[in-house]
Amino acid sequence: MPPVHPAIGYSFAPVAGLKSKPSPFTATVVRGKLTSDTELPAYTGFACACCQTAKLCRVNTPIDPMSDPAAWAAVLMQSRQTVLPKRLVAPGPDAGQLYALLGAAASAPDHKQLLPWRLVVIPTEARERLAQAFGAALLQRDACATQEQQAQARDKAFRAPLLILVVVDATCGDPDVNLFERMVSAGCAIQNMLLMATAQGYGSALTSGKALTSEPLRALFALGAGEHAVCCISVGTVQSRRPARPRPSPADYVRYLRAP
Ligand SMILES: Cc1cc2nc3c(=O)[nH]c(=O)nc-3n(C[C@H](O)[C@H](O)[C@H](O)COP(=O)(O)O)c2cc1C
Repeated sequence: MPPVHPAIGYSFAPVAGLKSKPSPFTATVVRGKLTSDTELPAYTGFACACCQTAKLCRVNTPIDPMSDPAAWAAVLMQSRQTVLPKRLVAPGPDAGQLYALLGAAASAPDHKQLLPWRLVVIPTEARERLAQAFGAALLQRDACATQEQQAQARDKAFRAPLLILVVVDATCGDPDVNLFERMVSAGCAIQNMLLMATAQGYGSALTSGKALTSEPLRALFALGAGEHAVCCISVGTVQSRRPARPRPSPADYVRYLRAP
C-alpha cells in the first residue's frame, strides 16, 4: 500500500454498492447513508484505505492546494474527527509544527482585536502538577472518591503528547464585546489549530469536564476573576480511531429567511 496521509493524498478502494468510477459529485455520509450532494469536481464515494471509512475522499491523486484550494479545505475539514486523548500517542508535533499550530490560532476572527483568549501549553514536565489539580478537584466534588477514581482523574493529565488549555477572558477590553463573541473567537482559534494538526497528520481532541471550573485548576493556571478555562486540546499520533461519525447535511441546519 502506498504511504497515506491522514488528511490528503489517500489511496482508495471503492465502497460496496457505490459507483466506483470518479463522479462529479461528492459522496457524503448522511445519517449512515451515502448520498451525493455538492459539486466539488473529481470526488466520489470511496473508502479511505487507511481507516476504511466511507467519507469524502479524493480519488487517486493528492490535491494540489493551489489549483483546488476549496477541495483541499473540504477534505481537511472532513478528515478532522475526535480521537480520544488516550488514543493519541508519541510522537507529537515537533517544535516547528507546534509553532505553526499555535500560530494558526492567530488567524481567528477577533472583534475589536481584544485577544480575549489565551493558550497554556502543558509540557510533559508539568503534567504532574495538572494531575494533582485533577485529583484535588475530584476530592472537592466527592470527598468519598475511591483511590481508583482518584487515579483515573490524575491519569487524564498524562494523555496525549501535546496538551493545551484554552482560557477565555470575559471582561478584558471593550465590554460591548460580550462573552458569546469572545467564545466564538476562541472556537475559531481552536478549529484553526485542529485543522492545522490534521494537516500535519496528527489526531486531536477537545475535552472539558467539571475539573475545569474547579478551584485547584483555577489556582494552577492563575485564572483571573473574569477568566474561564473552556477546554483542553490534545494532539498526537493516532493509535486507533473510530469510524467517522455521520455528519448532518446543510438541510438539517440551514433555513432561508423568506422575503416579505
Ligand atoms: C468545547 C468542547 C468540549 C468537549 N469536551 C469533550 C469531552 O470532555 N469528552 C469527549 O469525549 N468529547 C468532548 N468533546 C468532543 C465532542 O464530543 C466531539 O466533537 C463530538 O463527539 C463530535 O465528534 P467529532 O469531533 O469527531 O466530529 C468536546 C467538544 C467541544 C467542542
